[in-house]
Amino acid sequence: MNGHHQDAALPSGVTLLEALRNHLGLTAARFGCGLEQCGACMVLVDDVPRHACQLDAADMAGRTIRTPEALHDDALGRALIEAFLEHQAAQCGYCLSGILITAYAWLRGLDHLPSRTEIAAQLDHHLCRCGAHPRILAAVAAAAETYLSSVP
Ligand code: FES
Ligand code: FES
Repeated sequence: MNGHHQDAALPSGVTLLEALRNHLGLTAARFGCGLEQCGACMVLVDDVPRHACQLDAADMAGRTIRTPEALHDDALGRALIEAFLEHQAAQCGYCLSGILITAYAWLRGLDHLPSRTEIAAQLDHHLCRCGAHPRILAAVAAAAETYLSSVP
């Protein structure tokens, strides 16, 4: 879990999102719909973005999990966070942790500056009810530029 071994004695039937938020004190991944439709709960499981609201915590034994809290730990994560702050890319901010996880996983494997259309397509499954979309797209584009210019 975020680079550390994590033991957890959990009640049976809890989702990964419940385990994170209610038992492990990791509250950055958020509960929105609980139906795999909004993206607010996104985390990385073995480096793949997954909806934590739909995963059984019991199935996570031995898996590598990274939550939005871990984005501070590397250059791309920090570039994303700084770009979102710089562009004031939020209204309430509820959707952002999931969007950051998806953007992080996508940009990490990208070898070119993404177009606005590409960014929008990648984030299409994330719901933002505040209408912060233009600033979110701009922030992801800025983070991509910062990150790609820093990798050899
Ligand atoms: S809370 Fe998991 S997708 Fe909405
Ligand atoms: S900023 Fe409020 S839901 Fe996206």
